[in-house]
Order: sequence, then C-alpha cells, then structure tokens
Amino acid sequence: MACWRLLAPAFSVVATNSGSIRKWSRLNSREYSPVLSLRNISKTFDGSCPREVLQSVDLDVAAGHYVAITGESGVGKSTLLNVIAGLETPDTGTVHLNGEDLADLADDELTRIRREQMGFVFQAFHVLPYLSVAQNVELPLSLLGIDAVQSRDRVNEMLESVGLADRGDSMPRELSGGELQRVAIARALVHRPQLILADEPTGNLDPEAAGQILELLRRQIKDNATAGILVTHSRDAARTVDEVLTLTPTGLLRSESRAV
Ligand SMILES: Nc1ncnc2c1ncn2[C@@H]1O[C@H](COP(=O)(O)OP(=O)(O)OP(=O)(O)O)[C@@H](O)[C@H]1O
Ligand SMILES: [Mg+2]
Repeated sequence: MACWRLLAPAFSVVATNSGSIRKWSRLNSREYSPVLSLRNISKTFDGSCPREVLQSVDLDVAAGHYVAITGESGVGKSTLLNVIAGLETPDTGTVHLNGEDLADLADDELTRIRREQMGFVFQAFHVLPYLSVAQNVELPLSLLGIDAVQSRDRVNEMLESVGLADRGDSMPRELSGGELQRVAIARALVHRPQLILADEPTGNLDPEAAGQILELLRRQIKDNATAGILVTHSRDAARTVDEVLTLTPTGLLRSESRAV
C-alpha cells in the first residue's frame, strides 16, 4: 500500500481547501493584507514510489498572525516550509511574499528576499559553534551589510529580549539547549523579518524549556507584528498560536478549530 496517496479523490481537494481560503480571506480583508499568500500549491516527489505531499494548498498569513501546521511525520510539513522559503519549487501554484511572486525572482534576488524578509528557527538550532552568541545573532545583519554600530545595538536589544543579555560573549558549547534555541530565535528576528518559519523548534527541548521557547516565540511574533508559521507535533505548541492547520496524509491543508 506504499503508493496510496495518489488515489486521493480530486473533488475533496477543492471542497476542503476552498473552505479554508474563504475563512482566511474573511480574516484578512478585515484586518491586513497577507504577508504570505500560497495558491494551489502541489508537490510530488518522484522516485520508485512517487509521493504527492502537497495538493492544491492555499494559505494566507497576515502580519502579526501566528499559524501552526500540524500533521503526522512524513506528510510534508517541512516540504511546505521549503516551498514557502523558495528552497523547493512546487509543481503547480504560486508563492507570493508581500505581493512578490517568488517564481519571478532570479536566484540572487530570492536569496536577498530570504535574507531580508524571512527568519528561520529549526529543531536542531543550527547555531554556529565557532562563533560567539553575539556573533551568531549578528550574522543576518552582516549578510545584509548593516553597519557595525547599528548591528551591535540591534544584537544587544535582541539578546536582552530573549533573556540572554549577559551571554553575548559566551560560546555555544557553554549554553543549554533552551538557551541555544533562544540564540536561534534572536538570530531569526534580529533583522526584523516579515515572516518567521519555525520547524519543530521545541523538538529537542525538555517540557519546561519548550514552554519558555514557545512563549518567547509567540511574544516576539506579536510584538514585532511578524507573520509566523510554526510546524509542530505538539498539542501544547499548537495552543500558543492563533490558528491551527493540519496537513493531511493526502496533502490537503485543513483548518482546525481555533486555538486558545
Ligand atoms: N528531496 C526529496 N526527495 C524525495 N522525497 C522527499 C524529499 N524531501 C522529502 N521527501 C519525502 O516527502 C515526504 C514529506 O517529507 P517532509 O520532510 O516534508 O515531512 P514532514 O511532515 O516534515 O515530516 P516530519 O514530521 O517527520 O519532519 C516524506 O515522505 C519524505 O521522505
Ligand atoms: Mg519535518
């Protein structure tokens, strides 16, 4: 039964996903225009058994809106984030970031947009071990050519806001998992991105550290009016967002009941 996903009936795609578009459109027309807009995104991975991981996915996320995407392991959550980030090309559909169609951009423009407008947080932190905490957080600003004085102020501000004001000179090996993830969050937000993508950011943390990181992420997203997408398996994590969406094994993105 390895290839059963390809048997999903096409009519359910339209019914399920158009329902969630209407819901998002209502929300957005009332409040903001979307930072991120996906339309009709489909993606199949070829191979001995083709895997249709995304099927006619539509999604709008406005500034300051925080969305969780849940779903079983292997359904395509990380693939969806990669498509949003322009790291994976969809087979069909469009990704607009602030009205700009990612498909129209050359590679260097896409890299620039990613650096300027997106921030990433991953399960494995990806803090660079040979740079200090402050240097890790400064990295996105250096890549954007921001001058040293402005960078230093901004890094200090971010470290303070994630509770690491006195750890700038520490090396990553001296930090706990929860502290490393705070560094990663500071680095993801230091350049004030419009969209933050977090893929299982608490997957490597104990429950207490996970709770603190979730609260921190939510506060940062709300304080900075960033559009946020959190991929998570955790029910606790899903409770910290404004809206929970589930990616089904047939590649559909369904709206669940509103979180707290
Ligand atoms: N580059 C690729 N080539 C072929 N298949 C891929 C590729 N990337 C992902 N896949 C497959 O697509 C499916 C979805 O993968 P993805 O990593 O998006 O799942 P996920 O929902 O993030 O899972 P998890 O919760 O375990 O992280 C998986 O079956 C995976 O093996
Ligand atoms: Mg994943």
